[in-house]
Amino acid sequence: MNNSDFTPRDNFSSKFGIIAAAAGSAVGLGNIWKFPYVAGQNGGGAFLVVYLLFVVAIGLPVMLSEFSIGRRAQRNALGSFKKLAPGKPWYLVGVMGLAASFLILSFYSAVAGWTLEYVFRSVTGVFSGTKEQDFEYIFVSFISGTWRPLFWQLLFMALTAWIVMAGIKKGIEKYTKVLMPLLVIMIIILCIRSTTLPGAAEGLAFLFQPDFSALSTDAVLGALGQAFFSLSLGMGTLITYGSYIGKNNNLSTTVVQVSAADTIIAIMAGVAIFPAVFAFGIDPAEGPGLVFITLPNIFQQMAFGGFFELLFFVLLAVAALTSSISLLEVVVAYFIEELHMKRITATIFAAVMITILGVFCTLSFGVMSGVEIFGMIIFDLMDFTASNLLLPLGGFFIVAFVGWYLGSELSRREISNEGQLKVRYFPVFMFLVKFVAPFAITLVFIYGLGLLRI
Ligand code: PHE
Repeated sequence: MNNSDFTPRDNFSSKFGIIAAAAGSAVGLGNIWKFPYVAGQNGGGAFLVVYLLFVVAIGLPVMLSEFSIGRRAQRNALGSFKKLAPGKPWYLVGVMGLAASFLILSFYSAVAGWTLEYVFRSVTGVFSGTKEQDFEYIFVSFISGTWRPLFWQLLFMALTAWIVMAGIKKGIEKYTKVLMPLLVIMIIILCIRSTTLPGAAEGLAFLFQPDFSALSTDAVLGALGQAFFSLSLGMGTLITYGSYIGKNNNLSTTVVQVSAADTIIAIMAGVAIFPAVFAFGIDPAEGPGLVFITLPNIFQQMAFGGFFELLFFVLLAVAALTSSISLLEVVVAYFIEELHMKRITATIFAAVMITILGVFCTLSFGVMSGVEIFGMIIFDLMDFTASNLLLPLGGFFIVAFVGWYLGSELSRREISNEGQLKVRYFPVFMFLVKFVAPFAITLVFIYGLGLLRI
C-alpha cells in the first residue's frame, strides 16, 4: 500500500485556482525585482530577446514536463521520480530540487523582507519630501543594517510557514486568487506614470532596442537562469503543484497561460522601471537595489503617491509570498510523504532550517559583506548557484526524463488526459524535450561557465 492510499491528497478545487496558484508561484520578486535588475546589468534589449527565446524553446517544454511528472506520479518532487523510475538514480533530480528550494528561499526571504520594510515606510510616510538622490542612500543603509532586515525576514518566513501549514485549498489557493489580479492593475498604473515622465523614451529604447554587441556569454547564462527562476522551473515546484492538479485539467493550456502571464508581467515591470531609471539618472546596472531606489522616486511624482506606494509594496510582498509558499511546499511535501512527518512539524522544521541559512544572506550586505566565496557575497552565491546552476541542470534532467525515460507513449497519455484531448502539438513537444532543450541548456552551460570560449 502506498502513501496516497491512506492520505487522500489535497487538490486544487477549480481551474482558476490552479492557474492562480501556479501563476502565483511564477509571478513574484523574480519578475518585478530581479528581471529589471538582471536585464539592466546585461544590456537591456538584447537580454530580453534571448530571455524570450529561452522561455519559448526551453521554459514551455520544461513546465509541461514538470506538470506531467507530478500529475502522473501524484507525489512530491523527489517521490515522483522514485515512483516513476523505481530503483533508478533519477530521484537525485529531486534531491537537487530540494537543495535549490533551500538556497532560493534563503535569499528570497531576505528580499521579501525588504519589501515589508518598504510597506512599513509607506505607512509611516517617511519617504515624503525625500530628494531624488537620497533614495539610494536610504536603501543601502537599510540593507546593510543587522536587526531591521533580519526582523522583516523572520516575519516573512513566519507568514510563509503559516500559510503552508494551512494546506492547499484553504491556504495557497484562497490567497492567490484575489491578490494576483490586483497586482497586475497596480503595475499597469505604474507603467502609465513611468512612460509619461520626461525622458521616458530613452528607457523604452534601452529595453526594446536590442544591441547584440552588448550581449556577453554571462548574459546568456543569466537569461537562462532568469527564465528558470521566473517560471519557477527546474526544481520540482511545478512537479509538486502538478500532483495537486485534477486529472481532467488541460495541462498544456495551463502551461501557456501561466508562462504568458509571467512573461507579460516581467516585461511590464521593465516598462515601469526603465523609463524612470533614465528619467531620474539612475544607473540601469545598479543591481539588487534597482526597484527599491527607482519606484519610490516614481511614487513621489504621482498624485496620491503615498497611497499607491503602500498598495504597491503590499502587493509585491504578497506576490513574494505566493512564490515563497510554493518554494517551501516543495520541501514540506517531501517531508510529509517520504519522511512521514505531520504537515505542521514538517513546515516548522523546514522553515527554521531555511531561515538559518537566510540570516547569512541578509547579513552578507552588512556585517558579513567581507565574506566572499568565488568572488561573491553569500547572497549572490546562493542566487548564482541556485538560479544559474541548479535550476538549468534540474531542467535538463526533467526534460531528459520525459523525453528519454518516460517516452512518447506515457507522456502522450498524461498530456492528452488518457486520449481525451487532441494534442496535435505533441510531436513538437517531444522534439523539444528530447533534443532542443537539453542541447540548448548544455550549450549555454558550456559557454556561460567559461568551459569553452568563442
Ligand atoms: N518564480 C518565482 C519568482 O519569480 C521564484 C521561484 C523560483 C518560485 C523557483 C519557485 C521556484 O519570484
